[in-house]
Amino acid sequence: MYMNVLILGSGGREHALAWKIVQSPLCEHLFIAPGNPGTAALGTNLPVSLSDFSAIRKACVDHRIGLVLVGPEDPLVNGLTDYLETVDELKDLIVIGPSKEGAQLEGSKAYAKSFMIRHGIPTARYREFQADTFEEGLDYLRQHTLPIVLKADGLAAGKGVVIAQDVESAQQTFREMIQEAKFGAAGAKVVVEQFLQGIEVSVFVLTDGSDYLILPEAKDYKRIGEGDTGLNTGGMGAVSPVPFMTPDLRRTIEEKIVRPTIEGIAQENIRYRGFVFIGLMIDGDRPYVIEYNCRMGDPETEVVMPRLRSDLLALLLATGKGELKNMQADADTRAAATVVAVSGGYPEAYQKGFSITGVDQVDPSCVLFQMGTTLQDGQLQTQGGRVLTVTAYGDSIAQAVARAQTEQAKVRYEQKYLRRDIGHEFP
Ligand code: AMP
Ligand code: GLY
Repeated sequence: MYMNVLILGSGGREHALAWKIVQSPLCEHLFIAPGNPGTAALGTNLPVSLSDFSAIRKACVDHRIGLVLVGPEDPLVNGLTDYLETVDELKDLIVIGPSKEGAQLEGSKAYAKSFMIRHGIPTARYREFQADTFEEGLDYLRQHTLPIVLKADGLAAGKGVVIAQDVESAQQTFREMIQEAKFGAAGAKVVVEQFLQGIEVSVFVLTDGSDYLILPEAKDYKRIGEGDTGLNTGGMGAVSPVPFMTPDLRRTIEEKIVRPTIEGIAQENIRYRGFVFIGLMIDGDRPYVIEYNCRMGDPETEVVMPRLRSDLLALLLATGKGELKNMQADADTRAAATVVAVSGGYPEAYQKGFSITGVDQVDPSCVLFQMGTTLQDGQLQTQGGRVLTVTAYGDSIAQAVARAQTEQAKVRYEQKYLRRDIGHEFP
């Protein structure tokens, strides 16, 4: 069954999803909205804003779309899936991305925490507070063990988590979130939680709401500086597989976290057809959930898709039909690494509009995914904080990273910055 596919989004994640989808013999024509110059080389970009649901509906009708894959979280949290599923003309459309209720697993930290408690899923101990429990919250912080993790409840573009080293700064952050609306409405409610020790890993699950497949795991590098220092970013690189994921640990994660999560979704009748990205902290041999996301990660997708050997579109079709039970997700045995290049100054203020050269010199064994680029009179230019990423394969993480670095170095633009230590803990 051939079909037209629409991917929503415009970053490196969507470029990687597009790269994977066009390899499927089931894909007739690929559309990407709004896409980027990288996705334009793989399909047709449509100038549609992701907040304009009726324009998305119209694009689906006009282009006879059979399957929509939603890249970022915002439209999901805002109910895009529920909206599209009620349109008469689109009754055969498959939407990959959870309902508004399911997207709350990412859209509200308090919702996610209470879901985990209800289903016995290991996570940091927590309490939630808001304006009417503000004083109680200050008292709670006073007797809390250090450091203290404070999280704005709602979506805050990856900036809503603060780890306070002492009570005074925790109370200050708490005040800023609740009384001064530092994160807007997202911080009107605050989750205060215990600090978890250990190493982080991201696990990706595709689910049709009752069955699931676990995709290759990944580790991302969130800080701007080498040695994992400085401000948080969207992600400066990623590797897959993650060498400390032994078969035993993988089994524990599936038993204690993945299965109860999907069973919880099913038990609560949450409509969920899409990805669950589970951020985990591994303390010894015990995994804890740090967060759920209702979508794939960026730049994790840029290593997960290159390592997924199965036909992604076939998996997504099975997801849409509730037939995931019969499917399998095969991973490439090679390692993959991606090294992101950003604009100098990011994640704070940066300049854009610099010409990018050398993209065509990247070795064909590697893949370049565009993240924040634009075409101006035929010339590729920088347009965002994260500009582009190069993914390479290797027999080891170290070899994949070294190749990605070498190929990334061929791409040039003014004020280019990247981390040279992606994968540093896996020499
Ligand atoms: P999030 O925005 O939920 O991904 O959190 C950002 C980062 O904060 C995570 O990737 C962790 O490194 C860190 N973090 C979040 N919650 C905790 C916690 N309870 N203990 C330790 N680190 C945490
Ligand atoms: N790289 C982290 C994320 O996509 O949320």
